[in-house]
Amino acid sequence: MKVLVIGSGGREHAMVWKLAQSPQVTEIYCAPGNGGIAKMAQCIDVAADDMEGLLTFAKDKAIDLTLVGPEVSLTLGVVDLFQGAGLRIFGPSKKAAALEGSKVFMKDLLAKYDIPSAQYASFTDRDQAMAYVEKIGAPLVVKADGLAAGKGVLVCQELSEARDAVDLVMTQRAFGDAGDEVIIEEFLPGEEASFIAFTDGHTILPLPTSQDHKAVYEGDTGPNTGGMGAYSPAPVVTPELHDQVMEQVMLPTVKALATEGCPYKGMLYAGLMIRDGVAKVLEFNCRFGDPEAQPLLMRLNNDLVDVVEAVIDGNLGSITLDIDSRPTVCVVMASGGYPASYAKGYPISGLDKAAGQEDVVVFHAGTAVEKGAIVNTGGRVLGVTAIDGDLEKAIDKAYAVVDMIHWQDCYFRRDIGKKALGRKKS
Ligand code: AMP
Ligand code: GLY
Repeated sequence: MKVLVIGSGGREHAMVWKLAQSPQVTEIYCAPGNGGIAKMAQCIDVAADDMEGLLTFAKDKAIDLTLVGPEVSLTLGVVDLFQGAGLRIFGPSKKAAALEGSKVFMKDLLAKYDIPSAQYASFTDRDQAMAYVEKIGAPLVVKADGLAAGKGVLVCQELSEARDAVDLVMTQRAFGDAGDEVIIEEFLPGEEASFIAFTDGHTILPLPTSQDHKAVYEGDTGPNTGGMGAYSPAPVVTPELHDQVMEQVMLPTVKALATEGCPYKGMLYAGLMIRDGVAKVLEFNCRFGDPEAQPLLMRLNNDLVDVVEAVIDGNLGSITLDIDSRPTVCVVMASGGYPASYAKGYPISGLDKAAGQEDVVVFHAGTAVEKGAIVNTGGRVLGVTAIDGDLEKAIDKAYAVVDMIHWQDCYFRRDIGKKALGRKKS
């Protein structure tokens, strides 16, 4: 079977790594891939948002199965395009991907079907948005409606910040068309967790719980990033809370989308805020999380092809997920300066030694091969992912490998997973 993976991050490296273990897979292609993926798959120079380029490649190569990593391909309609050409592809349609592509669509759907989330109002007019901000007061959250590479959410503790945020999105149009409409939403305190599941539109098979670390600095301080590390399971999601999320969030959302005429197939990712044993939805993503995919795929024992094909064929009910009971942790190594500007092109040392370590995989994100050496090319560069008998051991194992790897200005957090250790001891 010839498989194509779309994307170039750590998430896509983990997908390629998992597919490479399938006896059904004979060839793997990745568009566009990265320096690490190039060792396991044939990387092709087609961007994740180049719809025609992707379709032409898949038709020419007679690709049997395509897996999509990033939201941009999904919201541009890659699934509809491929299906229209008779190709098998895993992910939601363009209409269903609006769950991530439009926060207004998502919030209106949740409100209509009584799915727990923050109170909100949406505006296309800057003055009305500003008047609402004055009325409800800080803290509050301002969100651009459309995709903004993870930057369109502004958490405002002070009223002055909230006023600036509305102007940033609606007057200065910092996120372009994504800011045509804004959501102004109640600030929810609590602890976040990621709840990620496979669904064929009827059956929902949740992966184990996980938790990302979005802030750039230790102790969850500083600006938000794409994610500085993740671990699984996340003990903040107790078994009771797990049931609550399935009953009150996942099942009703999948049902609601079907009722609204956009049945959902693919990965469904709920970003949750948890407080006092109650979970509310902060966001939905229409794809695997990054970095969550790395620790989650390391715990999945099933052949990924079987699960993905069952989703496409609408018979996910025939699959049972086989999950490794051991915890996993992924520490992201980033370019110094990220999420703001950073220097690229520094050679990375220690990768050969790191590759020889048992139960640890170094997934690549922003890397490329230049003159035979692996160099950093992105903000998030590597995701060092380890599995062990308990979380503390998995953390130690991951950091032992992190300490083998180096490049100029490399940065990582030292406290990935520590929150869960504190929780277990208390
Ligand atoms: P999103 O892209 O919607 O997940 O938002 C990015 C981050 O902003 C989340 O992971 C939270 O840390 C924070 N956030 C979003 N909405 C809220 C909210 N209503 N209350 C508190 N924090 C929020
Ligand atoms: N880890 C956050 C995300 O994938 O959006």
